[in-house]
Amino acid sequence: MRIAVIGAGYVGLVAAACLSRSGHEVVCIEKDEGKLAELQDGRLPFYEAGLAEIFTAGVGKGSLHFSSEVAACLDAEVVMIAVGTPARPDGRIDLSQIYGAVSRIVEQARFPQLIVMKSTVPPGFGENLKARLLSRAGVPLTYLANPEFLREGSAVRDWYYPDRIVIGGDQELAVAKLARLYADIDAPVVTMDVGSAEMVKYAANAFLATKISFINEIANLCELVGADILPVARAVGMDRRIGGEFLQAGLGYGGSCFPKDTCGLDFVSTCNGYAFNLLKAVIEVNNRQRVLALRKLRGMLGTLHDKTVCVLGLAFKPGTDDIRESPALDIINLLLDEGVKIRVYDPLAMKNAQRLLPPEVYSASGTMAALEGCHALLVATAWPEFTGLDWTAVKELMRPPRLVLDGRNCLPAEEIIKNGLVYQGVGRPA
Ligand code: UGA
Repeated sequence: MRIAVIGAGYVGLVAAACLSRSGHEVVCIEKDEGKLAELQDGRLPFYEAGLAEIFTAGVGKGSLHFSSEVAACLDAEVVMIAVGTPARPDGRIDLSQIYGAVSRIVEQARFPQLIVMKSTVPPGFGENLKARLLSRAGVPLTYLANPEFLREGSAVRDWYYPDRIVIGGDQELAVAKLARLYADIDAPVVTMDVGSAEMVKYAANAFLATKISFINEIANLCELVGADILPVARAVGMDRRIGGEFLQAGLGYGGSCFPKDTCGLDFVSTCNGYAFNLLKAVIEVNNRQRVLALRKLRGMLGTLHDKTVCVLGLAFKPGTDDIRESPALDIINLLLDEGVKIRVYDPLAMKNAQRLLPPEVYSASGTMAALEGCHALLVATAWPEFTGLDWTAVKELMRPPRLVLDGRNCLPAEEIIKNGLVYQGVGRPA
């Protein structure tokens, strides 16, 4: 099939590359000139595990192309929309990039096409778009909602091994045609109406965020009663009705999805006159979790002023260079406000972080260099390389009280304590 994908973010680019690998002719449309130049030059604009090989193969065999022109998708049978839908300050979703792309398709469409929405849009948006915009095209444009559940860092794996494929649409033939695109993927295809498919995406992300905030609340309570969140979460998660994933207590969720989508769903609820109180609490708990880390540091270091803290891990999670809504960055800013000197290191996200961090933050060239002369270490991202540190050497580099605040419960607590450092996790006994 001839497919166009609008937007070369991690969803669009993974979809484009993987579809080209499945034998389709794919053009990916990207309006950011810098990004487009990199792509046309055979380079990926961001890191995503396993993507480089598929991307290079697609470009090499000529089945994956890039363009800045929406006109390049006019020959495609299927047009997938995977542009950003960022949150506005009031929680509203900014849908302007979708309107921009779809308007141009409507103006120029020459023959019937499937318009497949992969971007996360509020429930009700698709029906609205159909009525207000798509109906104006001179040829039939059939709209389908096809939300993605890819995680950054494992997006290629998630593409090939999804738990389900969700398609929302009211035209059977169109739904079947889109389902055929995924014929080489072994997963159930769940079909429904457009609005319900849109809701699935929000409900899934909000539920996963709820699991994280819930386990963080239990972790905070564990600290107060002297229990340990690790065996608690493990045993709770072994109940198949609950499931063990997304029960890792820590500094809370970040990234470009959970914070935006929980606030977006809360906004949709409010607009519909409904107070989604559980979701509001999930968001509040997540915001508080970052402040609790600061409070812990203050409690253990005494005054924070003039102390030096090393923050290891700036990406919002391991396996990515993405720092959007990263808990680490918020905590660094809170520490700076208290007069703390900060030294940072991240295996992948240094370049992105340097653009946002104030110049007084020292960017180290490696883990050990970042630790030099620090009173405390905060591990904010569970990168595997932080777990296997030589703790004897770390002790030599740090200054008393040599506090290790394990914000992701990923470090070997016993070994750290044995080496004479002070260990504190999230929801772990002191
Ligand atoms: C999330 C969803 O998992 C995807 O299914 C969805 O497609 C994507 O959002 C999206 O809407 O596009 P992603 O944001 O890439 O994916 O990352 P996750 O792996 O879900 O992690 C999100 C945040 O939660 C990270 O900051 C992570 O550290 C945190 N987290 C995750 C925890 O604090 N505890 C956990 O147990 C799991």
